[in-house]
Amino acid sequence: MTLTLSRSGHLLGLDGVSRDEIVALLDDAVRLSTVASGRQPPLDVLRHRTVANIFFENSTRTRCSFALAARRLGADVLDIMGETTSQSKGETLLDTCRNLEAMGVDAFVIRTSASGAPHQVAARLSRPVINAGDGRHEHPTQGLLDVMTLRERLGDLAGRTITIVGDIANSRVARSALFGLTTMGAHVVLVGPPPLAPASMERLPVQDGSIKVLRDLDAVLPTSDAVMMLRVQFERAAGEAIASVDEYRRRYGLSPDRVRTLPPHAVILHPGPINRGLELESEVADDPARSVILQQVANGVAVRMAVLKSLLAKVPAGG
Ligand code: NCD
Repeated sequence: MTLTLSRSGHLLGLDGVSRDEIVALLDDAVRLSTVASGRQPPLDVLRHRTVANIFFENSTRTRCSFALAARRLGADVLDIMGETTSQSKGETLLDTCRNLEAMGVDAFVIRTSASGAPHQVAARLSRPVINAGDGRHEHPTQGLLDVMTLRERLGDLAGRTITIVGDIANSRVARSALFGLTTMGAHVVLVGPPPLAPASMERLPVQDGSIKVLRDLDAVLPTSDAVMMLRVQFERAAGEAIASVDEYRRRYGLSPDRVRTLPPHAVILHPGPINRGLELESEVADDPARSVILQQVANGVAVRMAVLKSLLAKVPAGG
C-alpha cells in the first residue's frame, strides 16, 4: 500500500501521491529556488531541527542536494554513510534510526539497496522518513525534480509525450518519474530491450495519462516532447540483459543524429550519473539548447527544500 505524503507524514514514493500534492510541492519549490540556488541567504524555517542523511549506497547529487536543502532551510545535518555506521557490526537500519531518533533527530533521509526498507522503517518511527532511493523501487524526490524541470520547459504536462529510454526495469528513477508524470496527465513511453523494459509495465496502476512500452527508439523520437535517458545499472545485473554494449548503444543510445529527429522544442533529461558514450553522447549531454540535465540538478535542491519544509511543518521539534 502506498502511503501518500499528507496522510502518512512520509515521502516514500510518488505512487498514490495526488496531483494537488505534487503541484503544491512544486509551487513551493519554485518559490524557494533563489535560496536553493545559493543566490539568497539561507532561511531559518528549520532552525533547531536536525535532518539525518543516511546513505547506504553511493550518491553525489541526491546526498549533496538533501544536505544543501536542509542547510538552506536553517537545519543541522547529520551526514551518515553506510560503511561508517554500526550496520557494519550487524545493526539493523531500524535500530540505527531509532538510536538517532533518541538523540532528537527530526527527519530521516534514507538511501538503501533494499527495495521497501524505508517503508518498513517509516512504519516504526515517529518522525518523517524521505525515501532517497530504495533498490529498484522508487526515488520520489527525483521524480518531483523531473516533473518540475519538465513543467518549466513545457508548461502543462497533460497530453505531452515523455519518452524514457534504457534500463527501466532496474530504475527507481523511471518508476517515480512515470508515476509523477502520468499523475500530471502525461503519456509516458518506455523504450528498451524486453528484459530492461518489460511489457508488463504498461499495467502499472496510474491516476491519469498512460504508459506504453515500445522497442523502436527511432519511431518514437519525432513525437516526443522530452526524452529521459537512463544509465544501464550494471551493479543491478542489467549487464546480463544486454547482448553487447555496442549493440545497446546502436539501438538505444542518444546520438546527435537521433536528436535531430526530435521536435524543435523537445528537451533531454538524465538523472545522472551519465555514462558518456553509452546511453548519451557528450555532444547531446552538453547541448545548451536541449539538455536540461544541470537544471534537473539545480531543481533537486529546491524540491528537497519543499519536501523537508512540508513534512517537518507537520511535526513538533524535538525528536
Ligand atoms: C540514480 C539513482 O541512484 O537512483 N541517480 C540519482 O539519484 N540521480 C540513477 C542511477 O544511479 O543511475
